[in-house]
Amino acid sequence: CGIIGYVGNRSAEGVVVEGLRRMEYRGYDSAGIALVAGDVLRVQKKAGKLANLEKLLSEQPLPASTIAMGHTRWATHGGPTDRNAHPHVGRNGRVAVVHNGIIENFAELRAQLEDRGHNFSSDTDTEIAAHLVELEVEAGRSVEDALRTVAKRLVGSFTLLAMDALQPDTIAATRRNSPLVVGLGEGENFLGSDVAAFIEFTRNALELEQDQVVAIRAGSVTVTDLDGNPAEGKPFLVTWDLSAAQKDGYDWFMRKEIFEQPKAVADALLGRRGLNGQLALDEMRLSDEDVRDIDKIIIIACGTSFYAGMVAKYAIEHWCRIPVEVELSSEFRYRDPILDNGTLVVAISQSGETADTLQAIRHARVQKSKVLAICNTNGSTIPRESDAVIYTHAGPEIGVASTKGFLTQLVACYLLGLYLAQVRGVKFDDEIARILDQLDGIPAAIESVLADAESVYALARDYVSTKSVLFLGRHAGYPVALEGALKLKELAYIHAEGFAAGELKHGPIALVEEGLPIFCVIPPRGRDQLHEKMISGIQEVRARGARTICLAEEDDELIKPYADTLITLPKVPVLLQPLVATVPLQLFACELATAMGHDVDMPRNLAKSVTVE
Ligand code: G6P
Repeated sequence: CGIIGYVGNRSAEGVVVEGLRRMEYRGYDSAGIALVAGDVLRVQKKAGKLANLEKLLSEQPLPASTIAMGHTRWATHGGPTDRNAHPHVGRNGRVAVVHNGIIENFAELRAQLEDRGHNFSSDTDTEIAAHLVELEVEAGRSVEDALRTVAKRLVGSFTLLAMDALQPDTIAATRRNSPLVVGLGEGENFLGSDVAAFIEFTRNALELEQDQVVAIRAGSVTVTDLDGNPAEGKPFLVTWDLSAAQKDGYDWFMRKEIFEQPKAVADALLGRRGLNGQLALDEMRLSDEDVRDIDKIIIIACGTSFYAGMVAKYAIEHWCRIPVEVELSSEFRYRDPILDNGTLVVAISQSGETADTLQAIRHARVQKSKVLAICNTNGSTIPRESDAVIYTHAGPEIGVASTKGFLTQLVACYLLGLYLAQVRGVKFDDEIARILDQLDGIPAAIESVLADAESVYALARDYVSTKSVLFLGRHAGYPVALEGALKLKELAYIHAEGFAAGELKHGPIALVEEGLPIFCVIPPRGRDQLHEKMISGIQEVRARGARTICLAEEDDELIKPYADTLITLPKVPVLLQPLVATVPLQLFACELATAMGHDVDMPRNLAKSVTVE
């Protein structure tokens, strides 16, 4: 997850280890380094914290070298173990690579290499890149040329650095949908997944564009496109201090993570379609027979993850016609739930360590139910103790209040629903493909919501002295309302409640008084009258003096007379609407808390991962 490369005149090991330390904030589960001394490639890597790698380096020191690259890994393919840690090397130990991202067609490439007699020593998608680059340099190519050839064969997202023991003056690197910056020094040059990698040594940097390849040597930096034509990166001067650099220039990790959501959602969707176009969940360890035997699903989760579960219920019941219950983990086992081997328990947890959820899945397994985890943290306890897992691939989430974790959980829930529908034959392949296509359009849709962040910020700043805010939604918009309220409680410490709009008249309407702000998540217009019913709820609160802030589709003219403030959303089907409607609520809470002077990344009394019941 953190990458650094160095060629110059200093001790490369020192530069790399320090660079990895400056990138520790990103979260990681293993670390490693490769360097070339003479014409021999040396690699040391270790699961766990950087301190483990440093201990290894002090016990088994590497020879001095002025060229090296390092990596801190956040596991995606393959658990967080020593052998899955980066760097990875080719079969003859001549080439090393480090990689961030996901190589979507790795299974296919790996099978091709296996047919040619290659053996692999890890479960990662990265190792194939090391083998492929090595084959190219063995055929006489320069390392940058080798990388160009290999990058053309890769599908997915990657920042990839490669080093060849027999070209010990060069590190080559390329990127696609994943960042790569070059640090320009005097007689030394750097590569990094962000400027924090080298900020201590130089502030002159070069940002690479998609599919560019760079070769750094001590005295030169050469950029080309994938065909080898000369190209130029975008030069810039780093004006941030280390803390701002780590946040990519944002004031909070949370804000950075909100803006990372288009990419996080795209990554969560990567590699899910098999060769035949069918949905393939490669981490799903349930047989088709197990899937067909399911007669009930119980989703368990806490906090934000619980709201993802509520959305999942709407989607899975609609698509699969399997009854779904959603239960708070902390309540689940104490109510003596009815479970048997026909029950699939789905545990949703960003961290994979939440004690309430862990205890709940243990209870379910004792009752012979199958457990599937939806989790962002590879190798954490909940997926380890589950029968199957879908990883959300959001990358590390640092802000305590979950943002990209939530959206990618939603994606995983949709994928699960579609997968169940596919295996059980309750939906036609073309319908599933159509929904997958709609999901593929979501990153761009989120991008368009983010483009309007300034107007949400301005709105938030108007509400700094607000004491209470309500959120209303219906159908899949109801969990969105709950999540919007939770974000406000967590960050701004003000009273905020989400309600199902239809329930308003049964109680909550008594809370409404002059000037009370109410966010209303407006469903798309459809045959089901949800939209009309939502409007009648809004009329009731407006009649009692509430100020409505409506989140509605961009061409929704009908809502205009009922909205004191209108936030427009791109058009997406109702079941997928939480993926876009949640975003302005995150922006609102983040900005309001900032304006109130609160610590957004570490709200009072909260922990990112709660490991006590
Ligand atoms: C904590 C966090 C919440 C999170 C919840 C569940 O309370 O503060 O943001 O939603 O735990 O965490 P999990 O890691 O299981 O998704």
